[in-house]
Amino acid sequence: MIVNSGNLIVNIRNDIMSRYEKISQIGQGTFGKVYKVKNQANELRALKIIAKKNFTIQNEIENMKKLDHPNIMAVYEIAQDEQFYYIISQLCDGIELFEEIHRRIKSNKPFSEEEVRFIFKQILSGIAYAHDKNIIHRDIKPENILIDPTDKHIKIIDWGLSKDITNIDFIQQKIGTIDYAAPEVLLEKGYDKKCDLWSCGVILYILLSGETPFPGQNTDEIEKRIISQRFNMKQKIWKTISKEAKNLLKNLLQQNPSKRLSALQALESEWIQRKSDVGLQEISFQEMTFRIQHISNFRCESKLVQATLHLMIQQNLSQEQYKQLRITFQKLDKNGDGKLSMEELKEYCQNGMDIMDLFSRIDTDKNGFIEFTEFLTAAVDMKKLASADQLKQAFQLLDLNGDGYLEIEEIKKIFNGKIQVQEEQQWDQLLLEMDENGDGKISLKEYQEAIAKFIDSQKNSSDIHSSNRFQEFEPYISKKVKVNESPYKLRNRQQK
Ligand SMILES: Nc1ncnc2c1ncn2[C@@H]1O[C@H](COP(=O)(O)OP(=O)(O)O)[C@@H](O)[C@H]1O
Ligand SMILES: [Mg+2]
Repeated sequence: MIVNSGNLIVNIRNDIMSRYEKISQIGQGTFGKVYKVKNQANELRALKIIAKKNFTIQNEIENMKKLDHPNIMAVYEIAQDEQFYYIISQLCDGIELFEEIHRRIKSNKPFSEEEVRFIFKQILSGIAYAHDKNIIHRDIKPENILIDPTDKHIKIIDWGLSKDITNIDFIQQKIGTIDYAAPEVLLEKGYDKKCDLWSCGVILYILLSGETPFPGQNTDEIEKRIISQRFNMKQKIWKTISKEAKNLLKNLLQQNPSKRLSALQALESEWIQRKSDVGLQEISFQEMTFRIQHISNFRCESKLVQATLHLMIQQNLSQEQYKQLRITFQKLDKNGDGKLSMEELKEYCQNGMDIMDLFSRIDTDKNGFIEFTEFLTAAVDMKKLASADQLKQAFQLLDLNGDGYLEIEEIKKIFNGKIQVQEEQQWDQLLLEMDENGDGKISLKEYQEAIAKFIDSQKNSSDIHSSNRFQEFEPYISKKVKVNESPYKLRNRQQK
Protein backbone atom coordinates (compact mmCIF):
# COMPACT_ATOMS: atom_id res chain seq x y z
CA MET A 1 0.00 0.00 0.00
CA ILE A 2 1.41 3.41 -0.86
CA VAL A 3 0.36 7.03 -0.57
CA ASN A 4 0.77 8.97 -3.79
CA SER A 5 2.51 12.26 -3.47
CA GLY A 6 0.30 14.01 -6.04
CA ASN A 7 -2.58 16.17 -4.97
CA LEU A 8 -5.38 14.84 -2.87
CA ILE A 9 -8.46 16.31 -4.42
CA VAL A 10 -11.62 16.10 -2.41
CA ASN A 11 -14.37 16.22 -4.94
CA ILE A 12 -17.49 14.81 -3.51
CA ARG A 13 -18.98 17.52 -1.35
CA ASN A 14 -21.02 20.10 -3.15
CA ASP A 15 -21.16 22.69 -0.40
CA ILE A 16 -18.04 24.57 -1.44
CA MET A 17 -19.83 27.90 -1.44
CA SER A 18 -20.91 27.49 2.17
CA ARG A 19 -17.38 26.70 3.30
CA TYR A 20 -15.57 29.44 1.42
CA GLU A 21 -16.14 33.14 1.67
CA LYS A 22 -15.64 35.17 -1.51
CA ILE A 23 -13.31 38.14 -1.02
CA SER A 24 -12.70 39.55 -4.49
CA GLN A 25 -12.46 38.63 -8.12
CA ILE A 26 -8.85 38.19 -9.19
CA GLY A 27 -9.06 36.85 -12.68
CA GLN A 28 -11.15 36.48 -15.75
CA GLY A 29 -10.02 33.80 -18.15
CA THR A 30 -11.40 32.38 -21.33
CA PHE A 31 -13.41 29.78 -19.50
CA GLY A 32 -14.19 31.17 -16.10
CA LYS A 33 -13.92 33.69 -13.32
CA VAL A 34 -11.37 33.36 -10.55
CA TYR A 35 -11.93 34.63 -6.99
CA LYS A 36 -9.84 35.07 -3.90
CA VAL A 37 -11.65 33.20 -1.10
CA LYS A 38 -11.18 32.38 2.56
CA ASN A 39 -11.71 28.88 3.97
CA GLN A 40 -13.01 27.86 7.38
CA ALA A 41 -9.50 27.95 8.80
CA ASN A 42 -9.27 31.58 7.61
CA GLU A 43 -6.64 30.70 5.03
CA LEU A 44 -6.72 32.25 1.58
CA ARG A 45 -7.32 30.14 -1.49
CA ALA A 46 -8.36 30.66 -5.11
CA LEU A 47 -11.73 29.61 -6.53
CA LYS A 48 -12.29 29.18 -10.25
CA ILE A 49 -15.88 28.92 -11.40
CA ILE A 50 -16.44 27.47 -14.85
CA ALA A 51 -19.79 27.32 -16.62
CA LYS A 52 -20.63 23.78 -17.62
CA LYS A 53 -22.04 24.71 -21.01
CA ASN A 54 -20.17 22.75 -23.65
CA PHE A 55 -17.26 22.23 -21.40
CA THR A 56 -15.74 19.50 -19.35
CA ILE A 57 -12.93 19.95 -16.89
CA GLN A 58 -12.23 16.26 -16.53
CA ASN A 59 -8.81 16.55 -18.20
CA GLU A 60 -7.72 19.50 -16.12
CA ILE A 61 -8.60 17.74 -12.88
CA GLU A 62 -7.23 14.32 -13.72
CA ASN A 63 -3.95 15.85 -14.86
CA MET A 64 -3.64 18.25 -11.93
CA LYS A 65 -3.95 15.31 -9.54
CA LYS A 66 -0.65 13.98 -10.81
CA LEU A 67 1.27 17.25 -10.54
CA ASP A 68 3.01 18.12 -7.31
CA HIS A 69 5.69 20.71 -7.88
CA PRO A 70 6.64 24.09 -6.37
CA ASN A 71 6.25 25.85 -9.74
CA ILE A 72 2.86 24.35 -10.54
CA MET A 73 -0.35 25.59 -9.00
CA ALA A 74 -1.88 22.94 -6.74
CA VAL A 75 -5.59 22.11 -6.92
CA TYR A 76 -7.21 21.15 -3.62
CA GLU A 77 -10.93 20.64 -4.08
CA ILE A 78 -13.52 20.45 -6.79
CA ALA A 79 -17.28 20.41 -6.82
CA GLN A 80 -20.11 20.92 -9.25
CA ASP A 81 -23.76 21.76 -9.45
CA GLU A 82 -26.05 21.83 -12.45
CA GLN A 83 -24.54 24.92 -14.00
CA PHE A 84 -20.99 25.24 -12.76
CA TYR A 85 -17.76 23.55 -11.82
CA TYR A 86 -15.92 24.91 -8.78
CA ILE A 87 -12.17 24.45 -8.40
CA ILE A 88 -10.41 25.41 -5.19
CA SER A 89 -6.68 25.80 -5.54
CA GLN A 90 -3.72 27.33 -3.89
CA LEU A 91 -3.83 31.12 -4.11
CA CYS A 92 -0.74 32.23 -5.94
CA ASP A 93 0.71 35.51 -4.78
CA GLY A 94 1.53 37.96 -7.45
CA ILE A 95 0.38 38.79 -10.92
CA GLU A 96 0.38 37.34 -14.40
CA LEU A 97 3.81 37.33 -16.00
CA PHE A 98 2.01 39.06 -18.86
CA GLU A 99 1.19 42.04 -16.62
CA GLU A 100 4.69 42.09 -15.19
CA ILE A 101 6.18 42.23 -18.71
CA HIS A 102 3.91 45.15 -19.54
CA ARG A 103 4.66 46.90 -16.30
CA ARG A 104 8.37 46.60 -17.06
CA ILE A 105 7.90 47.94 -20.58
CA LYS A 106 5.81 50.88 -19.40
CA SER A 107 8.10 51.84 -16.57
CA ASN A 108 11.22 51.29 -18.64
CA LYS A 109 12.62 48.78 -16.17
CA PRO A 110 13.59 45.79 -18.24
CA PHE A 111 14.43 42.45 -16.74
CA SER A 112 18.14 41.88 -16.45
CA GLU A 113 19.44 38.78 -18.16
CA GLU A 114 19.98 37.23 -14.74
CA GLU A 115 16.42 37.90 -13.70
CA VAL A 116 15.20 36.30 -16.91
CA ARG A 117 17.36 33.28 -16.21
CA PHE A 118 15.95 32.94 -12.70
CA ILE A 119 12.37 33.19 -13.96
CA PHE A 120 12.89 30.96 -16.96
CA LYS A 121 14.58 28.20 -15.00
CA GLN A 122 11.47 27.85 -12.86
CA ILE A 123 9.22 27.63 -15.90
CA LEU A 124 11.43 24.89 -17.33
CA SER A 125 11.48 23.08 -14.01
CA GLY A 126 7.66 22.90 -13.89
CA ILE A 127 7.43 21.84 -17.52
CA ALA A 128 10.17 19.21 -17.14
CA TYR A 129 8.32 17.74 -14.18
CA ALA A 130 4.96 17.63 -15.99
CA HIS A 131 6.58 16.12 -19.08
CA ASP A 132 8.19 13.47 -16.93
CA LYS A 133 4.63 12.51 -15.93
CA ASN A 134 3.65 12.56 -19.61
CA ILE A 135 1.49 15.63 -19.25
CA ILE A 136 1.76 18.46 -21.73
CA HIS A 137 0.32 21.87 -21.00
CA ARG A 138 -0.39 23.10 -24.54
CA ASP A 139 -1.11 26.67 -23.54
CA ILE A 140 2.12 27.99 -22.08
CA LYS A 141 1.99 31.79 -22.28
CA PRO A 142 2.66 34.71 -19.93
CA GLU A 143 -1.05 34.91 -19.05
CA ASN A 144 -0.86 31.40 -17.63
CA ILE A 145 2.24 31.99 -15.58
CA LEU A 146 2.00 33.89 -12.31
CA ILE A 147 4.95 35.71 -10.82
CA ASP A 148 5.39 36.99 -7.30
CA PRO A 149 7.19 40.31 -7.88
CA THR A 150 8.69 40.28 -4.40
CA ASP A 151 10.79 37.16 -4.95
CA LYS A 152 10.11 36.31 -8.60
CA HIS A 153 8.63 32.96 -7.74
CA ILE A 154 6.81 31.39 -10.66
CA LYS A 155 3.67 29.25 -10.83
CA ILE A 156 2.35 27.66 -13.97
CA ILE A 157 -1.45 27.76 -13.90
CA ASP A 158 -4.39 26.92 -16.16
CA TRP A 159 -3.98 23.28 -17.11
CA GLY A 160 -7.35 23.41 -18.87
CA LEU A 161 -5.91 22.37 -22.22
CA SER A 162 -3.39 19.92 -20.82
CA LYS A 163 -3.20 16.39 -22.12
CA ASP A 164 -1.88 13.13 -20.75
CA ILE A 165 0.03 11.57 -23.62
CA THR A 166 0.87 8.23 -22.02
CA ASN A 167 0.35 5.74 -24.85
CA ILE A 168 -0.11 8.49 -27.43
CA ASP A 169 2.69 9.19 -29.89
CA PHE A 170 1.35 12.30 -31.58
CA ILE A 171 -1.62 14.61 -31.22
CA GLN A 172 -3.14 16.60 -34.05
CA GLN A 173 -5.72 18.82 -32.42
CA LYS A 174 -4.88 22.45 -33.16
CA ILE A 175 -5.17 24.02 -29.76
CA GLY A 176 -3.55 26.75 -27.68
CA THR A 177 -2.82 30.42 -28.32
CA ILE A 178 -1.54 31.43 -31.71
CA ASP A 179 1.35 33.69 -30.69
CA TYR A 180 2.90 30.88 -28.66
CA ALA A 181 1.93 27.90 -30.83
CA ALA A 182 4.64 25.69 -32.30
CA PRO A 183 4.81 25.28 -36.07
CA GLU A 184 3.95 21.58 -35.88
CA VAL A 185 0.78 22.43 -33.93
CA LEU A 186 -0.29 24.92 -36.57
CA LEU A 187 0.51 22.55 -39.42
CA GLU A 188 -1.65 19.85 -37.82
CA LYS A 189 0.84 17.19 -38.77
CA GLY A 190 1.04 15.77 -35.29
CA TYR A 191 2.93 17.04 -32.27
CA ASP A 192 4.21 15.89 -28.89
CA LYS A 193 5.75 17.31 -25.67
CA LYS A 194 8.10 19.52 -27.62
CA CYS A 195 5.27 21.95 -28.44
CA ASP A 196 5.57 23.33 -24.88
CA LEU A 197 9.27 24.02 -25.41
CA TRP A 198 8.55 26.14 -28.44
CA SER A 199 6.12 28.22 -26.35
CA CYS A 200 8.85 28.53 -23.73
CA GLY A 201 11.17 29.80 -26.46
CA VAL A 202 8.68 32.50 -27.42
CA ILE A 203 8.45 33.55 -23.77
CA LEU A 204 12.23 33.63 -23.44
CA TYR A 205 12.48 35.86 -26.50
CA ILE A 206 9.91 38.26 -25.03
CA LEU A 207 11.54 38.32 -21.59
CA LEU A 208 14.95 39.08 -23.05
CA SER A 209 13.93 41.63 -25.64
CA GLY A 210 10.51 42.97 -24.72
CA GLU A 211 9.29 42.07 -28.18
CA THR A 212 7.47 39.15 -29.67
CA PRO A 213 9.48 37.01 -32.12
CA PHE A 214 6.59 36.52 -34.53
CA PRO A 215 4.64 39.76 -34.80
CA GLY A 216 1.80 40.24 -37.25
CA GLN A 217 -1.30 42.30 -37.94
CA ASN A 218 -3.54 39.25 -37.91
CA THR A 219 -3.46 35.52 -37.17
CA ASP A 220 -2.62 34.62 -40.76
CA GLU A 221 0.45 36.79 -40.72
CA ILE A 222 1.59 35.48 -37.36
CA GLU A 223 0.97 31.90 -38.43
CA LYS A 224 3.01 32.37 -41.61
CA ARG A 225 5.91 33.81 -39.68
CA ILE A 226 5.87 30.97 -37.17
CA ILE A 227 5.72 28.30 -39.83
CA SER A 228 8.58 29.82 -41.78
CA GLN A 229 10.39 30.38 -38.47
CA ARG A 230 11.21 33.92 -39.53
CA PHE A 231 12.48 35.53 -36.39
CA ASN A 232 15.63 37.49 -35.94
CA MET A 233 17.93 38.79 -33.29
CA LYS A 234 19.22 41.70 -35.28
CA GLN A 235 17.90 44.50 -33.13
CA LYS A 236 20.43 46.36 -31.05
CA ILE A 237 19.13 44.89 -27.86
CA TRP A 238 20.48 41.43 -28.72
CA LYS A 239 24.05 42.72 -28.74
CA THR A 240 23.82 43.08 -24.98
CA ILE A 241 22.61 39.51 -24.46
CA SER A 242 25.00 36.66 -23.84
CA LYS A 243 25.86 34.05 -26.42
CA GLU A 244 24.66 31.29 -24.08
CA ALA A 245 21.20 32.81 -23.73
CA LYS A 246 20.90 33.21 -27.50
CA ASN A 247 22.04 29.63 -28.01
CA LEU A 248 19.32 28.31 -25.74
CA LEU A 249 16.77 30.46 -27.52
CA LYS A 250 17.77 29.13 -30.94
CA ASN A 251 17.55 25.59 -29.68
CA LEU A 252 14.03 26.20 -28.40
CA LEU A 253 12.70 28.13 -31.39
CA GLN A 254 13.82 25.26 -33.54
CA GLN A 255 11.44 24.31 -36.32
CA ASN A 256 12.15 20.60 -36.16
CA PRO A 257 10.71 19.24 -32.88
CA SER A 258 13.16 16.34 -32.79
CA LYS A 259 16.05 18.79 -32.83
CA ARG A 260 14.39 21.11 -30.30
CA LEU A 261 15.65 20.72 -26.73
CA SER A 262 13.53 18.87 -24.19
CA ALA A 263 12.75 20.67 -20.94
CA LEU A 264 15.37 18.63 -19.12
CA GLN A 265 18.01 19.38 -21.74
CA ALA A 266 17.13 23.06 -21.56
CA LEU A 267 17.56 22.93 -17.77
CA GLU A 268 21.01 21.49 -18.33
CA SER A 269 22.00 24.17 -20.85
CA GLU A 270 25.01 26.31 -20.15
CA TRP A 271 22.99 29.47 -19.67
CA ILE A 272 20.58 27.97 -17.13
CA GLN A 273 23.41 26.30 -15.24
CA ARG A 274 25.36 29.52 -14.94
CA LYS A 275 26.19 30.66 -11.43
CA SER A 276 24.29 33.78 -10.59
CA ASP A 277 23.58 36.11 -7.75
CA VAL A 278 19.94 36.55 -8.59
CA GLY A 279 18.32 33.78 -6.69
CA LEU A 280 16.43 32.47 -3.75
CA GLN A 281 16.58 34.01 -0.34
CA GLU A 282 19.61 32.93 1.61
CA ILE A 283 19.31 30.29 4.27
CA SER A 284 22.37 29.61 6.39
CA PHE A 285 23.94 26.18 6.34
CA GLN A 286 23.20 25.81 10.02
CA GLU A 287 19.54 26.61 9.58
CA MET A 288 19.30 24.25 6.64
CA THR A 289 20.84 21.44 8.68
CA PHE A 290 18.32 22.12 11.39
CA ARG A 291 15.47 21.87 8.95
CA ILE A 292 16.71 18.55 7.65
CA GLN A 293 16.94 17.40 11.24
CA HIS A 294 13.29 18.31 11.72
CA ILE A 295 12.36 16.40 8.59
CA SER A 296 14.38 13.41 9.65
CA ASN A 297 12.07 13.00 12.65
CA PHE A 298 9.12 12.29 10.43
CA ARG A 299 7.73 8.87 11.20
CA CYS A 300 4.26 7.87 10.18
CA GLU A 301 3.19 4.27 9.78
CA SER A 302 -0.51 4.81 9.17
CA LYS A 303 -1.43 5.45 5.54
CA LEU A 304 -4.64 7.09 6.61
CA VAL A 305 -2.74 9.51 8.83
CA GLN A 306 -0.31 10.23 5.99
CA ALA A 307 -3.13 11.03 3.60
CA THR A 308 -4.80 13.14 6.28
CA LEU A 309 -1.60 15.13 6.74
CA HIS A 310 -1.73 16.04 3.05
CA LEU A 311 -5.27 17.24 3.59
CA MET A 312 -4.18 19.34 6.58
CA ILE A 313 -1.59 21.05 4.44
CA GLN A 314 -4.16 21.90 1.80
CA GLN A 315 -6.67 23.21 4.28
CA ASN A 316 -4.59 24.82 6.98
CA LEU A 317 -1.17 25.84 5.76
CA SER A 318 -0.86 29.61 5.56
CA GLN A 319 0.65 31.42 2.60
CA GLU A 320 3.60 32.51 4.72
CA GLN A 321 4.40 29.06 6.10
CA TYR A 322 4.07 27.65 2.63
CA LYS A 323 6.50 30.17 1.23
CA GLN A 324 9.22 29.40 3.77
CA LEU A 325 8.99 25.67 3.17
CA ARG A 326 8.85 26.13 -0.57
CA ILE A 327 12.10 28.10 -0.52
CA THR A 328 13.80 25.43 1.58
CA PHE A 329 12.66 22.79 -0.88
CA GLN A 330 13.95 24.76 -3.86
CA LYS A 331 17.29 25.32 -2.15
CA LEU A 332 17.68 21.60 -1.65
CA ASP A 333 16.66 20.86 -5.22
CA LYS A 334 20.05 21.59 -6.77
CA ASN A 335 19.32 20.41 -10.32
CA GLY A 336 15.95 22.16 -10.33
CA ASP A 337 13.83 19.22 -11.44
CA GLY A 338 11.31 19.79 -8.67
CA LYS A 339 12.00 16.67 -6.62
CA LEU A 340 14.68 15.74 -4.12
CA SER A 341 17.12 12.92 -4.66
CA MET A 342 19.19 11.26 -1.98
CA GLU A 343 22.27 13.05 -3.28
CA GLU A 344 20.63 16.44 -2.85
CA LEU A 345 19.66 15.75 0.75
CA LYS A 346 23.02 14.32 1.75
CA GLU A 347 24.80 17.62 1.84
CA TYR A 348 22.83 18.81 4.86
CA CYS A 349 22.58 15.53 6.74
CA GLN A 350 24.55 15.42 9.93
CA ASN A 351 26.94 12.64 10.77
CA GLY A 352 25.25 9.51 11.92
CA MET A 353 21.96 10.26 10.21
CA ASP A 354 20.73 7.21 8.35
CA ILE A 355 19.80 8.76 5.03
CA MET A 356 18.40 5.57 3.50
CA ASP A 357 16.08 5.21 6.45
CA LEU A 358 15.08 8.87 6.33
CA PHE A 359 14.35 8.62 2.65
CA SER A 360 12.23 5.54 2.98
CA ARG A 361 10.06 7.21 5.61
CA ILE A 362 9.47 10.45 3.71
CA ASP A 363 9.19 9.05 0.20
CA THR A 364 5.71 7.69 0.85
CA ASP A 365 4.98 6.79 -2.76
CA LYS A 366 8.33 4.98 -2.99
CA ASN A 367 9.35 6.40 -6.34
CA GLY A 368 12.90 7.13 -5.24
CA PHE A 369 12.42 10.88 -4.91
CA ILE A 370 10.96 13.15 -2.29
CA GLU A 371 8.28 15.13 -4.02
CA PHE A 372 7.00 18.48 -2.90
CA THR A 373 4.00 17.41 -0.83
CA GLU A 374 5.96 14.58 0.75
CA PHE A 375 8.50 17.18 1.78
CA LEU A 376 5.86 19.57 3.12
CA THR A 377 4.26 16.79 5.12
CA ALA A 378 7.51 15.95 6.85
CA ALA A 379 8.63 19.56 7.24
CA VAL A 380 5.60 21.36 8.67
CA ASP A 381 4.94 21.66 12.33
CA MET A 382 1.78 19.56 12.45
CA LYS A 383 0.94 20.75 15.93
CA LYS A 384 -0.03 24.04 14.34
CA LEU A 385 -2.01 22.56 11.49
CA ALA A 386 -3.92 19.89 13.30
CA SER A 387 -5.58 21.33 16.40
CA ALA A 388 -8.73 19.62 17.67
CA ASP A 389 -10.85 22.19 15.83
CA GLN A 390 -8.96 21.85 12.60
CA LEU A 391 -9.27 18.08 12.81
CA LYS A 392 -12.98 18.39 13.35
CA GLN A 393 -13.27 20.45 10.19
CA ALA A 394 -11.23 17.91 8.22
CA PHE A 395 -13.37 15.12 9.59
CA GLN A 396 -16.53 16.87 8.49
CA LEU A 397 -15.06 17.26 5.03
CA LEU A 398 -14.40 13.55 4.84
CA ASP A 399 -17.68 12.47 6.40
CA LEU A 400 -19.60 12.66 3.14
CA ASN A 401 -22.97 11.50 4.38
CA GLY A 402 -22.69 13.59 7.52
CA ASP A 403 -23.56 10.77 9.96
CA GLY A 404 -20.64 11.54 12.27
CA TYR A 405 -18.53 8.53 11.22
CA LEU A 406 -16.04 7.72 8.50
CA GLU A 407 -17.12 4.51 6.84
CA ILE A 408 -15.12 2.35 4.51
CA GLU A 409 -17.06 3.62 1.47
CA GLU A 410 -16.21 7.21 2.30
CA ILE A 411 -12.56 6.42 2.81
CA LYS A 412 -12.49 4.61 -0.49
CA LYS A 413 -14.16 7.44 -2.35
CA ILE A 414 -11.88 10.12 -0.94
CA PHE A 415 -8.54 8.42 -0.88
CA ASN A 416 -8.91 6.29 -3.99
CA GLY A 417 -6.08 7.39 -6.25
CA LYS A 418 -4.29 8.93 -3.32
CA ILE A 419 -3.82 5.68 -1.48
CA GLN A 420 -2.97 2.81 -3.78
CA VAL A 421 -3.99 -0.63 -2.61
CA GLN A 422 -3.00 -3.92 -4.18
CA GLU A 423 -6.10 -5.74 -3.01
CA GLU A 424 -9.58 -4.62 -2.04
CA GLN A 425 -9.23 -5.99 1.49
CA GLN A 426 -6.53 -3.46 2.19
CA TRP A 427 -9.20 -0.79 2.48
CA ASP A 428 -10.52 -2.64 5.53
CA GLN A 429 -7.02 -2.74 6.98
CA LEU A 430 -6.82 1.01 6.54
CA LEU A 431 -9.92 1.51 8.57
CA LEU A 432 -8.56 -0.72 11.31
CA GLU A 433 -5.59 1.62 11.72
CA MET A 434 -7.92 4.10 13.36
CA ASP A 435 -10.91 2.07 14.48
CA GLU A 436 -10.00 1.59 18.11
CA ASN A 437 -13.30 0.13 19.35
CA GLY A 438 -13.70 -2.16 16.35
CA ASP A 439 -17.20 -1.07 15.31
CA GLY A 440 -16.18 -0.91 11.64
CA LYS A 441 -16.22 2.87 11.39
CA ILE A 442 -14.14 5.78 12.61
CA SER A 443 -15.60 8.31 15.00
CA LEU A 444 -14.35 11.88 15.34
CA LYS A 445 -12.77 10.91 18.65
CA GLU A 446 -10.89 7.99 17.13
CA TYR A 447 -9.78 10.19 14.28
CA GLN A 448 -8.51 12.95 16.55
CA GLU A 449 -6.74 10.46 18.77
CA ALA A 450 -4.95 8.80 15.85
CA ILE A 451 -3.61 12.12 14.61
CA ALA A 452 -2.74 13.27 18.13
CA LYS A 453 -0.78 10.06 18.61
CA PHE A 454 1.19 10.81 15.47
CA ILE A 455 1.88 14.38 16.58
CA ASP A 456 3.03 13.19 19.99
CA SER A 457 5.45 10.74 18.46
CA GLN A 458 6.91 13.57 16.38
CA LYS A 459 7.29 15.74 19.43
CA ASN A 460 9.13 13.10 21.39
CA SER A 461 11.65 12.44 18.67
CA SER A 462 12.27 16.11 18.07
CA ASP A 463 12.71 16.71 21.80
CA ILE A 464 15.56 14.27 21.73
CA HIS A 465 17.30 15.68 18.70
CA SER A 466 16.69 19.34 18.28
CA SER A 467 18.84 22.09 19.56
CA ASN A 468 16.87 24.72 21.41
CA ARG A 469 18.34 27.47 19.35
CA PHE A 470 15.91 26.85 16.55
CA GLN A 471 12.63 25.83 18.11
CA GLU A 472 10.80 27.19 15.11
CA PHE A 473 11.83 28.00 11.59
CA GLU A 474 13.14 31.47 11.87
CA PRO A 475 12.04 34.15 9.45
CA TYR A 476 14.45 34.90 6.66
CA ILE A 477 16.78 37.75 7.15
CA SER A 478 18.73 38.44 4.02
CA LYS A 479 17.37 38.61 0.55
CA LYS A 480 19.61 38.30 -2.42
CA VAL A 481 18.11 39.84 -5.47
CA LYS A 482 20.03 41.98 -7.86
CA VAL A 483 17.81 44.40 -9.70
CA ASN A 484 17.96 45.96 -13.10
CA GLU A 485 21.55 46.44 -13.95
CA SER A 486 20.95 45.69 -17.53
CA PRO A 487 21.78 48.48 -19.95
CA TYR A 488 19.17 47.58 -22.48
CA LYS A 489 15.65 48.79 -22.79
CA LEU A 490 12.46 46.95 -23.39
CA ARG A 491 10.56 48.09 -26.40
CA ASN A 492 6.85 48.15 -26.72
CA ARG A 493 5.59 44.74 -27.42
CA GLN A 494 2.95 44.55 -30.04
CA GLN A 495 -0.40 44.28 -28.28
CA LYS A 496 -2.40 41.21 -29.06
N1 LIG B 1 -4.54 30.12 -8.16
C1 LIG B 1 -4.56 31.37 -8.61
N2 LIG B 1 -4.03 32.36 -7.87
C2 LIG B 1 -4.07 33.64 -8.32
N3 LIG B 1 -4.59 34.03 -9.50
C3 LIG B 1 -5.14 33.08 -10.30
C4 LIG B 1 -5.15 31.70 -9.89
N4 LIG B 1 -5.75 31.00 -10.87
C5 LIG B 1 -6.08 31.88 -11.82
N5 LIG B 1 -5.73 33.14 -11.50
C6 LIG B 1 -5.98 34.35 -12.31
O1 LIG B 1 -7.15 34.16 -13.12
C7 LIG B 1 -6.83 34.16 -14.52
C8 LIG B 1 -7.67 33.14 -15.25
O2 LIG B 1 -7.39 31.84 -14.75
P1 LIG B 1 -7.10 30.63 -15.73
O3 LIG B 1 -6.96 29.40 -14.92
O4 LIG B 1 -5.98 30.98 -16.65
O5 LIG B 1 -8.48 30.57 -16.52
P2 LIG B 1 -8.80 30.35 -18.06
O6 LIG B 1 -8.75 28.89 -18.29
O7 LIG B 1 -10.19 30.85 -18.17
O8 LIG B 1 -7.78 31.13 -18.84
C9 LIG B 1 -5.34 33.89 -14.58
O9 LIG B 1 -4.75 34.39 -15.74
C10 LIG B 1 -4.84 34.57 -13.30
O10 LIG B 1 -4.68 35.95 -13.47
MG1 LIG C 1 -5.68 31.17 -18.68
